[in-house]
Amino acid sequence: MKAAIYKTYGSPKVIQVIDTEIPTPKPNEVLIKIKASSSTRADTMMRQGSPKFRRLFLGFFKPKNTSLGTGFSGVIEFIGDEVSKFNIGDAVFGEKLFSNGCNADYICIAEDMIVEHKPITISHQEAAPICDGFLTSYNFLKDIANIKKGQHILVNGASGSLGTAAVQLAKLMGAKVTGVCSTKNVNFVKSIGADEVIDYKNEDFTNSQNKYDIIYDSVGTLNFKDCENVLTNKGIFMTPVLSFGTLWHSIINSKKVKFAATGLKKTEELKQLFKELVSLFKDEKLHTNIDKAYKLSEIKLAHEYLETGRKVGNIVIINQ
Ligand SMILES: NC(=O)c1ccc[n+]([C@@H]2O[C@H](COP(=O)([O-])OP(=O)(O)OC[C@H]3O[C@@H](n4cnc5c(N)ncnc54)[C@H](OP(=O)(O)O)[C@@H]3O)[C@@H](O)[C@H]2O)c1
Repeated sequence: MKAAIYKTYGSPKVIQVIDTEIPTPKPNEVLIKIKASSSTRADTMMRQGSPKFRRLFLGFFKPKNTSLGTGFSGVIEFIGDEVSKFNIGDAVFGEKLFSNGCNADYICIAEDMIVEHKPITISHQEAAPICDGFLTSYNFLKDIANIKKGQHILVNGASGSLGTAAVQLAKLMGAKVTGVCSTKNVNFVKSIGADEVIDYKNEDFTNSQNKYDIIYDSVGTLNFKDCENVLTNKGIFMTPVLSFGTLWHSIINSKKVKFAATGLKKTEELKQLFKELVSLFKDEKLHTNIDKAYKLSEIKLAHEYLETGRKVGNIVIINQ
C-alpha cells in the first residue's frame, strides 16, 4: 500500500509517498481501507517540528512518529476476532490522535478508540476532517467555555477549519456569533451562520465598545491583553494555539485565559464529544466546508497550500 511519511523535520519537500506493508489488525482492531483523510495545520507543525519546544514531545533531532495524517474515513475490510461493534463493509470515520498514519491506503484502529459509523448523510471527504475542526472547537465551546444560550462569542479565524466549525456549533448552541475574517471571506462566514462579521482588514474589534462573553481565537493571531477590554467581567479568552504569552496568561489568570490540546483529553471524554457530533451530522445540523481535495500522491501540494495560512475550511486527501 501507499503511505505518506517524513523522516526528518522540514518543508513539504521532506514528505515521501512510499510503498509499505498493509498493517495486520490485532484481535481488538479493524482494518480500514481509507477513502479520504484529513491534512491539517497541526500536521504541518509536526512535520516542521515547530515551534521547536514541541520537539521535546515529537522527537528532539528527528520525528519519533514518521507517519502523517490523523483524521480518516473509509470502509472496514477485516476485523479482529474480538471486535463486536463493527462488521466488514461498514463505512466508518474517526481520528488516530497522535499515532497518525491516516494519509495512507490502510490503517488499523482499536474498536474502542475514536471511530464510529459514518452517517449516510455525509461523504467520506466530508467525514475525514471532522475530528480536526469540529472535535477541537466542540471541546472548546462545550467543555472549556461551557457556552450558554444567549451568550455572545467572537470567533477569530472564522474561515478556518476550527473557525467554520465554531461558528456553526456556537449557533446551534444558541449563542450570538460574531465572526472575524478577511474581506474575501465575509460573505462565506455569513453563509455558515454568523450573525455579524468583522473584516479584520478594515476594522480592529479590540477598539470597539462591544463586549463579548467568549473570545475564541481559533488561529492564534490575537493576544489576551489586547482583548481584555472587550471581554465582559466574567468573559473568557480561549485559543487552541499555544504561545508563550497564552501559556503565561493561562497560568496567572487561569479563570480568564484558556488553552487546551484536545488530543490530550481523556479518550472516553473525546469519544463522548465525537458521538454527539456524529449525531448532529446525521441530523444534517452541521456541514463540513472543503476548500481543496488532493490525491495521496499530491500530498506535498496539500502541505504547501496549508502553510499559506489562507485555506477556507478543510483540506482532504482522497484515495483512488
Ligand atoms: N489545540 C488543539 O487541540 C488544536 C487542534 C487542531 C488544530 N489546532 C491549531 O488550530 C489552528 C487553526 O487551524 P485551522 O486549520 O482552523 O486554520 P488555519 O489554516 O490556521 O487558518 C486558516 C484561516 O485563518 C484565517 N486567518 C489568517 N490570519 C487571520 C487573522 N489575522 N485574523 C483572522 N483570520 C485569519 C484565514 O483567512 P484569511 O485568508 O481570510 O485571512 C484562513 O481562512 C492551527 O494553529 C492548528 O495547529 C489546535
